[in-house]
Amino acid sequence: MSSLSTAATPVVPDTPSSQTPTPRGEITIRVSQVLRHTSEVSGFVLQRIDGHPLPTCEAGAHIDVYLPGDLVRSYSLCGDPARSHEAYEIAVKREDRGRGGSRAVHSWVREGEILRIGAPRNLFPLAPQAPHHLLLGGGIGMTPMVAMAHALHARGEPFTLAVFARSAAYLPLKNVLDTAPWRDRVQTHFDDAPVRTSPASLVAAAPAGSHAYYCGPEGFMQHVREACQHWPAERVHFEYFNAPPKSEAASAAAPATAGFEVVLARSQKRLTVGPEQNIAHVLQSAGVRVDTVCEQGICGSCITPYLDGTPDHQDFCLTEDERATHIAICCSRSRTPTLTLDL
Ligand code: FES
Repeated sequence: MSSLSTAATPVVPDTPSSQTPTPRGEITIRVSQVLRHTSEVSGFVLQRIDGHPLPTCEAGAHIDVYLPGDLVRSYSLCGDPARSHEAYEIAVKREDRGRGGSRAVHSWVREGEILRIGAPRNLFPLAPQAPHHLLLGGGIGMTPMVAMAHALHARGEPFTLAVFARSAAYLPLKNVLDTAPWRDRVQTHFDDAPVRTSPASLVAAAPAGSHAYYCGPEGFMQHVREACQHWPAERVHFEYFNAPPKSEAASAAAPATAGFEVVLARSQKRLTVGPEQNIAHVLQSAGVRVDTVCEQGICGSCITPYLDGTPDHQDFCLTEDERATHIAICCSRSRTPTLTLDL
């Protein structure tokens, strides 16, 4: 799913040191514009307060937004990556039954507000090349797909952007879909249409060798996941909002529940992780700085290289190749009595 070279390293431009993000990759920005996309989705245009360029980003990247009350939430960038040095754009759906992040954004973030954000991370990159790219977005899950559509149009590669919403009134970013130079590549599918098209039918009809990308609510994710299950894994790319049910975790074996020891290779510190603890919290309690945002194995902020031992991977953001060298320490554990981290 991801490209760790970009996932682990924030994309930072070649700019003077006074303009670069802080060591944590944080950037202070001003909300230069608030856009009302639908009754439940607002867009936010973010620019640096010093007027200097932002770190450029790739299509599929997301940023962490630091909110009052120590809330941190990750949002996909949906603007044109080619113009990301000028401004970032996110679109946030208000989830009244969510964990509080989107409510905080909608009730607190206004035009002119000063915010801290993290530098972009990309766990959902486009394939370098493909005969066709099928972008499937369910509701607000279409946001990274819009950035991908901008990038693919610029690359001159064939793609289809299929977006699914309850009805036209709930379609986020409609203004972009209607006016973008790639608008002829857009298909809109609404639940209230007399004849409904399923994402699975689009997967089935995709040209040979296509790469599929999907993001949306859990039911949508499950539907597309099943439709793509016969495709080679390297041609299927996805990003979750929330961790899916444990039964769908990528680890086929039952999760490891026993305690184990973590060794920090650089300091030779040894720390015990109890059966009910996670590695990130144990490290943080011992004074080791570990960034965590989602704590569900989705956002990639806690991904850490390991040197020895066998992890019990429980994340939803690393590819099998990446898992050979890295572990998401917010959710994954160890299958061996000792796990050595490159920290
Ligand atoms: S904190 Fe998000 S993947 Fe670990």
